[in-house]
Amino acid sequence: MFHERYRLSGFFVFFVAIPMVCGCNERKVIDTIFRNYSKTVRPVLEQNITLHVEYELRVYSIISVDEPDEFVTFLLWTTRTWKDQYLTWNPKDFDGCTTVKVTVDHIWLPDIYFLNTLDTQSISLTGNDYVDLSYDGEIRQYRKFKAQLSCNMAIGDFPFDTQTCPIIVGLWTYNYSELILHLRYPIVGLASYNGDPDYAPIMANNSEFETVSFTGVEVKSTVGPFTYSELHYSIGLKRRPAYYIYVILIPSYLLTSLCIIGIFTPNSNINERNERVTLGLTTLLSMAVILNIVADQMPKGSEGLPLLGIFVLYEIGVLSAIVPQNPTMDYKRGSPDGSINHVIDRNVERQTAVVLSISSMVQNAIESMKKRLHEDEEKEKRELIWENVFDSLDSVLLVLLLLLNTLISYFLLR
Ligand SMILES: *[C@@H]1O[C@H](CO)[C@@H](O)[C@H](O)[C@H]1NC(C)=O
Ligand SMILES: *[C@@H]1O[C@H](CO)[C@@H](O)[C@H](O)[C@H]1NC(C)=O
Ligand SMILES: *[C@@H]1O[C@H](CO)[C@@H](O)[C@H](O)[C@H]1NC(C)=O
Ligand SMILES: *[C@@H]1O[C@H](CO)[C@@H](O)[C@H](O)[C@H]1NC(C)=O
Repeated sequence: MFHERYRLSGFFVFFVAIPMVCGCNERKVIDTIFRNYSKTVRPVLEQNITLHVEYELRVYSIISVDEPDEFVTFLLWTTRTWKDQYLTWNPKDFDGCTTVKVTVDHIWLPDIYFLNTLDTQSISLTGNDYVDLSYDGEIRQYRKFKAQLSCNMAIGDFPFDTQTCPIIVGLWTYNYSELILHLRYPIVGLASYNGDPDYAPIMANNSEFETVSFTGVEVKSTVGPFTYSELHYSIGLKRRPAYYIYVILIPSYLLTSLCIIGIFTPNSNINERNERVTLGLTTLLSMAVILNIVADQMPKGSEGLPLLGIFVLYEIGVLSAIVPQNPTMDYKRGSPDGSINHVIDRNVERQTAVVLSISSMVQNAIESMKKRLHEDEEKEKRELIWENVFDSLDSVLLVLLLLLNTLISYFLLR
């Protein structure tokens, strides 16, 4: 009973109430214009008429930049507008109806796509999107894409680089005499166009990249005997280098400086020779890991290493040069003071007292031995002088190398 009444009242509202209140009957319009419509036919009345499509591109956000594989992932908003000459009506005949909404799968659509795409996902909320249709046949369609676009990365200046990535909009089948693409705003840039508040081509920055330029031009491109219409957009992305400065640059500079200080500080303790080599090798290992981090981020192209990679490689070169140099200096130092020789001396004397009474032959031998020890002491004195010389040399080298490292780092990354 209840259902019956509900259906009856619904029936009444649909057929009587709406036309009276609203004035415009969308259903009547749609029934009429779609009666003979074919969505596979280019919507021009004569085949020799060119269809013009106005295109507007907005970069809603830069999702990611993939340097090794050389592509950028964008979230793009597009608006395209064209006139479908079959979908027109006179508003006077339809109670003043000027616009209706129709679903996209009922109408002809231009086959516009991104020419340099690797993957494009259309983001649709309902799976059945609507377009605005006005009485003169103008169709306005809004779309959202997540698009992976290929972009050749110029990483020579990394991490102080600016990438220029193209966004090429083109047609798959329709040629220049059938369909022409136009920019909705003749001049595309970051600044507002003629004070139009609606103009916002770049809607967000990426955390790593800042958008520094955005341009767009209409292009007539020729492929073999055919000519096609294309729109060439270009977006300039400048990297914010802070992350790489804190994570790679400063640590490698400090590691190298510490290693230089460790190796060339004069008068360290006895086991220094081994410890210095260990210090040098450990630092080298850390630098190799850091270099690996840099290399992993980069495309393995012909451009070679980026600036940051060259810097880390330079630091590795400095370390490799200083580490093997040092043991040869240590070798000349000998023992820190003469104490060990004195101990040997005393032991020799005690033994001499016992041996003396047994044989003078042995005593002669001891004499020659003492002479040799004396010679050793002379030698030790010479070595002490050398040690002082090398200590001074170390101090000079320490200051020189630290200065050189700082200067070269500065000029390399300036
Ligand atoms: C639909 O097409 C037929 C012939 O193809 C034509 O006779 C008829 O008038 C058309 N109707 C409308 C509403 O255009
Ligand atoms: C298109 O072709 C028709 C004849 O089929 C001709 O009358 C008309 O002028 C042509 N239009 C253009 C724009 O060339
Ligand atoms: C992007 O960042 C730059 C500099 O930080 C800023 O000037 C610009 O307004 C930002 N753009 C947007 C759309 O937030
Ligand atoms: C476009 O294609 C048509 C045939 O499909 C051809 O007649 C015409 O010459 C082509 N125009 C251009 C500019 O390539």
